[in-house]
Amino acid sequence: MNDKMIIPNHIGIIMDGNGRWAVKRGLPRTMGHKKAIGTLKELCIHMADIGVKYVSLYAFSTENFKREVKEVNFLMDLFINTFEKEFGFLKERDVKIIFSGRREPLPEKVLNAMDDLVNDTKNNKSLVLNICINYGSHAEIVDMTKKLCQLYKDGNISLDDIDEELLMKNMYNDLPPLDYVIRTSGELRLSNFMMYQASYAEFYFPEVLFPDFGVEEFDKALEEFQKRNRRFGGIK
Ligand code: IPE
Ligand code: IPE
Ligand code: MG
Repeated sequence: MNDKMIIPNHIGIIMDGNGRWAVKRGLPRTMGHKKAIGTLKELCIHMADIGVKYVSLYAFSTENFKREVKEVNFLMDLFINTFEKEFGFLKERDVKIIFSGRREPLPEKVLNAMDDLVNDTKNNKSLVLNICINYGSHAEIVDMTKKLCQLYKDGNISLDDIDEELLMKNMYNDLPPLDYVIRTSGELRLSNFMMYQASYAEFYFPEVLFPDFGVEEFDKALEEFQKRNRRFGGIK
């Protein structure tokens, strides 16, 4: 890390490899999810310290409901525990927490813990932490389309009002474009993560499993970002 480093304005992290991390150690998959919370806390502090403005975390996809009930239930309990007991420090660190995803069919207790965190951090200003739970990019685009149709039907917008900006404003959250998407564990895919927002993002796919993706690994990712030549369709 040095002062001249370009800090991506909006970073997306697909936190993958928790299950494999645990299985490699002869532990149940769920222990990998538990370990990931410690890594995540470390990363959040670091990202806030170096001045990242927006972070989107992929915590649970709409497709993750296909997993065994036992694992899904563990994750739901882990979300409640993390939001109620582990994320308190984010309030003091001026981090504003928001969520992206469908509320249905998340359990009421998870929704309450999410709502409390949003409410407790709503006036914070340093880093916006967007946590994607029961999130899918396809679902987001479907839901956005329904909102626009409703606005049109009610006479609140005309066809000429529809542009890229209006689409973004009607997503789950109005966020700037992703600059850097990091997916741990060596998988080379988006798995339905923020397709619209990632249109000009740079991508980084380290082999390391998420529970081991600490500050040191994050700084390697940041160094890699410095080498990218972003052209956005122009000539540079
Ligand atoms: C990512 O780790 C966490 C979630 C999807 C909730 P995985 O649980 O996908 O771990 P692997 O990919 O099976 O190792
Ligand atoms: C993507 O990981 C979702 C999250 C990290 C939350 P998955 O492990 O669910 O993705 P696939 O199934 O390997 O594509
Ligand atoms: Mg996975």
